[in-house]
Amino acid sequence: MIKSTIAELFAQEIKHIDVEVKGWVKSFRANRFIALNDGSTLRNIQCVVDFESMDEALLKRISTGAAVHIKGSLVESQGKGQDVEIQVTSLEVLGDADPELVSKTILQPKRHSLEFLREQAHLRARTNTFGAIMRLRSSLSFAVHQYFHNNGFNYMHAPIITGSDAEGAGEMFRVTTLDPKNPPLTKSGEVDYSKDFFGKETNLTVSGQLEAETYAMALGKVYTFGPTFRAENSNTSRHLAEFWMIEPEVAFMDLEGNMDLAEDFLKYVIAYVLKNNVDDLAFLEKRLEQEEKSKPQNERSSMSLTEKLNFVLDNNFKRVSYSEAIDILRNSKPNKKKKFKYPINEWGVDLQSEHERFLVEKHFKCPVILFDYPANIKAFYMRLNEDGKTVRAMDILFPGIGEIVGGSQREERLEVLKEKMAALDIPEEELWWYLDLRTYGTAVHSGFGLGFERLVMFATGMSNIRDVIPYPRTPQNAEF
Ligand code: 4AD
Ligand code: MG
Repeated sequence: MIKSTIAELFAQEIKHIDVEVKGWVKSFRANRFIALNDGSTLRNIQCVVDFESMDEALLKRISTGAAVHIKGSLVESQGKGQDVEIQVTSLEVLGDADPELVSKTILQPKRHSLEFLREQAHLRARTNTFGAIMRLRSSLSFAVHQYFHNNGFNYMHAPIITGSDAEGAGEMFRVTTLDPKNPPLTKSGEVDYSKDFFGKETNLTVSGQLEAETYAMALGKVYTFGPTFRAENSNTSRHLAEFWMIEPEVAFMDLEGNMDLAEDFLKYVIAYVLKNNVDDLAFLEKRLEQEEKSKPQNERSSMSLTEKLNFVLDNNFKRVSYSEAIDILRNSKPNKKKKFKYPINEWGVDLQSEHERFLVEKHFKCPVILFDYPANIKAFYMRLNEDGKTVRAMDILFPGIGEIVGGSQREERLEVLKEKMAALDIPEEELWWYLDLRTYGTAVHSGFGLGFERLVMFATGMSNIRDVIPYPRTPQNAEF
């Protein structure tokens, strides 16, 4: 008797063997055919029961959603649509699912809207779509670790609770154990955080970069891959309050090297899923095709999902300076026809997602790396260029997504960094340890942050970030 997952059964060469599987009933038809799934693959295995010899009460309990334990013989299938099936010799219902209740949930086998699926996020992984997304997500995260491992990086666990605001944007969730109703106060009447758990104000991290820098300056090449938190009130299809970020950081590497690394890395992980997640990708490709059909003709993508993924592999990312991009945008049709919500008039403005998408999808028609941004729209730690007004920043823009990566060469000169912090009112006491890096053997170093969910969006073709993470955290939403 072979106990195995359905994925393993499909890979079996020998037929007519006794097998044993456990899974959930997807559907049961003609009192005879169970479509069984156990999550190991998108594909269901057909289990054929002999209803005449089966106890009627037991037969009734085989319904969509029920957990069952099946033993039988793996044979070549008589019917169309599958190579093998199981001729059931014994069936045990491990957990019932009342059809009456199931009919009100997303478990009933029919099409459901993604919004409806979000309302039942504890069940949605049982749907084909979410099964496929989550297997792909897992595969991508494995590929991330494999890439860095193969390239001599050390995996570094950055702290989740910190006292600093790495991005300087003030979008942090406070971490405290003080009594919200009756907090200790200072003489001037403010909350006295010196009495708090850590003896200071702390928050959930927005990025592990600053800590990763300290380790890069010891181990050479490191990367983080962990949850990060942003209390920005942006209710968009691309923002989460809790998301996973991958942040490599490399000593002695400049911005050029950083771009090369990011491009090579993105291509590797995409190639990995193209090779290893064939079934799930094929399913998601069909899903996307259906979704595209419901869009007006001029908004439809001309490429299928796998074509898009291959397109990224086959083309060099276009490297363009911020200044060049501004010129292109200023002279673009949508800008002249006042189609942009935020018109581009002068150098120095921050780019909005509509501009990023214009550059990628309409102008260059390939992934774009924008670099050398104005200093005052970027974080304090980026290295100042000789012109005194731009910094060695880079953002990677992807079709359908916009910004997928943000990174930079770091300011390694102590005095320049101190000036920058002073100008932005960032107290030196708060980041004394970060400044120390520039005192003891400072060196050129660079890194970037990849928003993991944005990568999963790209690889799955999903258009809402809430649908590529098991439990999305967004403003006004932390159910489950
Ligand atoms: O551009 P960001 O803010 O850069 C940093 O945090 C740097 N410390 C990274 C570094 O250099 N080590 O964020 C990096 C990426 C973005 O490009 C985006 O993909 C993603 O993180 N991201 C978000 N993803 C989902 N929801 C949000 N609210 C996000 N904010 C940023
Ligand atoms: Mg950014």
